[in-house]
Amino acid sequence: MSRPQPHSHRPRPPETADLLVIGSGIAGLSFALKAAREGRVLVITKKSRADSNTNWARGGIAAGLGPDDDPSLHLQDTLAAGAGLSRRDRVEMVAREGPDRVRELMDWGVRFHREGGRLSLGQEGGHSRRRIVRAGDRTGQEIERALLAAVADAPEIQVVQHLMAVDFVLEDGACVGVRALDHRSGAPVELRAPVTMLATGGAGQVYRHTTNPTVATGDGVAMAFRAGAPVANMEFVQFHPTALYPTRDPAFLMTEALRGEGAVLRRMDGSSLMEGVHPRGSLASRDVVARTIHAELARSGAPHVVLDVSAIPEAKLEARFPGAMEGCRAQGVDPYDEGIPVVPAAHYLCGGVVTDDWARTGLPGLFAAGEVACTGVHGANRLASNSLLEAVVFSHRAALELRRAREAGQAPRDHWPEAVAGLPLPAGQATSAGIEGSDRLRLRLRDLMWESVGIVRHGEELSRALAEVEAMLAAVPGSPATDPPHSAVVARTLDAVESRNMLEVGRLIVASALQRRESRGLHYRSDYPGPDDVRFLSDTVLTRAF
Ligand code: SIN
Repeated sequence: MSRPQPHSHRPRPPETADLLVIGSGIAGLSFALKAAREGRVLVITKKSRADSNTNWARGGIAAGLGPDDDPSLHLQDTLAAGAGLSRRDRVEMVAREGPDRVRELMDWGVRFHREGGRLSLGQEGGHSRRRIVRAGDRTGQEIERALLAAVADAPEIQVVQHLMAVDFVLEDGACVGVRALDHRSGAPVELRAPVTMLATGGAGQVYRHTTNPTVATGDGVAMAFRAGAPVANMEFVQFHPTALYPTRDPAFLMTEALRGEGAVLRRMDGSSLMEGVHPRGSLASRDVVARTIHAELARSGAPHVVLDVSAIPEAKLEARFPGAMEGCRAQGVDPYDEGIPVVPAAHYLCGGVVTDDWARTGLPGLFAAGEVACTGVHGANRLASNSLLEAVVFSHRAALELRRAREAGQAPRDHWPEAVAGLPLPAGQATSAGIEGSDRLRLRLRDLMWESVGIVRHGEELSRALAEVEAMLAAVPGSPATDPPHSAVVARTLDAVESRNMLEVGRLIVASALQRRESRGLHYRSDYPGPDDVRFLSDTVLTRAF
């Protein structure tokens, strides 16, 4: 008699689909809703359906919708933040097409905040106009809610939870699906589809302090890189200046919109931190503010700086920022007493898997959208609230490409562009001596990244960090897809897959930071404190050498 299998009541995912989507945030779900016109869509997600970075986005989604605004102004602000590395053509796409994509979100049921019958637009750093479309200070949660409801109403879309994509299945150099792991039962699964959309979000968890949820372990970037897709600009990690101190995991984000409504950053002695540093003061772009806080903490030895919200009336603070107030209360902070204690924390990965105008990666059959992708929009520094917008614009463009292929009677892969050429990753000096256990590796990686590859970097420290990350990567337990786990180690298996991905992403960040011997946007090197347009006005592209 066979013994009952754990979780055998759960339906098995179909083994084939017309379209496979990895990730259930804004990029994956908005793509699924559109792609459902082209066939059966299978969305897989490693935790629960709402466990995504999108759900944690607070500020909002930027779009040139205000009466005094225009996509060309949004374009200018985005290019200015990108510090010379944003691609003008791609930024134009996002600025021009963004307003329609925001209207589409509303058609799907997203309830953005309105005042007097019009969208109420917030202000954030680096924007010359009020253009942040928002739902209180829990915009991502509202978007996720509405998209999941729309997906639930779409019979062509099936969402399978707790299924961890491990590696792509490759045939003749093309992506034809994924090997995945049902990490609650330990069962390996192979899923096949002619087209896959990679929408796994970011990688903030590679840093000790991050605003990103625990699912943000860089899985998609690591998988794509291992499969041979070029990745770019991994050195550009955005640190959000105002995470609530002391930080938890994840750190609670005090949205930049608070500064948009008049909150001011102060030193512990009450003096203004940003006065005289930048004409926009506390609303300067994030790289400038985060670096100024970092320098102040190093100078003073203080554990945090203070976000003074006294200029915002209490009723407005409660009505407009319920999430921030709840976060303060949960940590026993009274914002009107001594202000809100804040520190920077890793927040957003500007680099990722290189994609083209239609969200196609260098791997035929694989699209990528959202934080996992490097579209060329963010350049060296992402403008606040441009990420949700970029995600919906490029998911839409991927769906348009599918439609174009169908109407032309082609398989999408028939029309795939030549792969983007990348530079080989420098060879490492890996050794596995004395390092065991993925949990320990993960903790060490997070500390190392925070200390040596953080807001301010130096070549010698980066070199040491690269050697250590490579040693850890060599020691990480093997892929469960090739080495199916025994059920007794199931709980550790998801951790092991994630840890390997985090180490891979950590290595890409350090290697890119080492290559860029200049300071630009989010990447600041104390040994090369200025920009070098002659040698470095270009992307850092890495491709795995096979
Ligand atoms: C915030 O609310 O401050 C974050 C917005 C963003 O990262 O775009």
